[in-house]
Parts: sequence; structure tokens; C-alpha cells
Amino acid sequence: MSGFVTVAKLNDLPENDLKGLIVDGVAIVLINRDGVIYALEDSCSHEEFPLSAGDLVGCEITCSLHGARFDIETGVPRALPAVLPVRTFEVQVEGDDIKVNLTEAA
Ligand code: FES
Repeated sequence: MSGFVTVAKLNDLPENDLKGLIVDGVAIVLINRDGVIYALEDSCSHEEFPLSAGDLVGCEITCSLHGARFDIETGVPRALPAVLPVRTFEVQVEGDDIKVNLTEAA
């Protein structure tokens, strides 16, 4: 089954911005990097702080609590204190709809 669900509108997510939201009980952070959309679990793997409160720097998102950084494409940690990856989700953009596949987490 396709798990893609519409979670937001492209017009509501400006380039190089991010947005946290809850979809079917799952907290995700949407990221628009230069027009490409990424979706990650909105929970730092260090102490479960929302990554949506952090900053986007290049291809990384920085947790604002202790400074861990994660690759927005893979969820792999790039800086301590996080050592475990965060989940990533497939994204499709159809017109103005941003769709995320919540059933196929990487
Ligand atoms: S909770 Fe994110 S770095 Fe500690």
C-alpha cells in the first residue's frame, strides 16, 4: 500500500526553512533546502528534543538543545552528542502538495 499522505502545502514552506508537524501521531520536520523537500523524524536521537526548533545549515539540521547535527537526506548524525540516526521519510511533491510516506521510514 502507498503510504504517501499530504502533510503540507509547498507555499507554506519557503526555501531554506523548516516546519514541524504531527501526522498520524508521528512528529516530523519538513525541510525545504533550495527547493528540495526532506522529511525527518522531529526528534533528536540524543534526548528527543524537536529538531524543528533547530537550524538548517547547508545539508544539515542542528539540534538547538546540545548542538548535534544530522544529514537531512540520510538522518545520519554528523556531530556529537548524537550517535544514532534519526528516521527519514520519502517525500513527493505534486503541484502544491507535499506528500510524505510515513510507512517507509529509512
Ligand atoms: S537533544 Fe539534541 S543534541 Fe541533545
